[in-house]
Amino acid sequence: MRKLIAGNWKMNGLRADGTALARALAARHLDAGPDCELLICPPATLLAEIAPLLAGTGIALGGQDCHPDAVGAHTGDISAAMLKDAGCAYVILGHSERRREHHETDALVRRKVGAARATELIPIVCVGETAAERDAGRTLAVIGAQLSGSLPALAGADPLVIAYEPVWAIGTGRTPKQHEIADVHAFIRSELAKGTPRAATVRILYGGSVNAKNAQDILPIANVDGALVGGASLDAQAFWTIALAAGD
Ligand code: PGA
Repeated sequence: MRKLIAGNWKMNGLRADGTALARALAARHLDAGPDCELLICPPATLLAEIAPLLAGTGIALGGQDCHPDAVGAHTGDISAAMLKDAGCAYVILGHSERRREHHETDALVRRKVGAARATELIPIVCVGETAAERDAGRTLAVIGAQLSGSLPALAGADPLVIAYEPVWAIGTGRTPKQHEIADVHAFIRSELAKGTPRAATVRILYGGSVNAKNAQDILPIANVDGALVGGASLDAQAFWTIALAAGD
């Protein structure tokens, strides 16, 4: 399976720097695309402006969240259909920053996954343990519960991406040891296999302090089908270096 390198810009980027970054990536991709799939998830305000910059490049566009309902009185929220309409193919759901800052529960994430699927957006469902949970030896139990709580029935053929992002590794410069990543990804694969015969086709991304230096160590790990990159995705050269490491 080709790896997927996804950039999560989070709440970064005004029109000038966001479009400049997208243009820089588009130019590189047209010049010589890496041997992986690329996705960028800019802030919602930039999606419609960036979509035409990516047209024809092969770089996909994604949102960072959506509301579980299709339409209605939800001030400040964005529906899956709005993301699709702006040019998105993917949406990140259940990121730990949303779980923490917006009190998102597994049940809510599950409804959002349903909304994404109804709109034919590919959900990227994030799971991951806190430092305290890892220290207590509860990593796999926590991730198992997040998976079963956040995913609707998996029987259909709808595409799905999982991102394993240890909360303590996000934005900290710290990453798990390679065997720790391998253990969690193998566990996620086996949990998915309980619910669907096509578990082998679900991409499982690693996220949390992936950068241009460590990508070549992380991406070859078994069951790591790509990366969800935060901070390093804001730098065209760093993101590109990660993408090139995915094709090795
Ligand atoms: P980071 O963020 O790469 O800055 O650690 C990753 C993420 O939160 O998706």
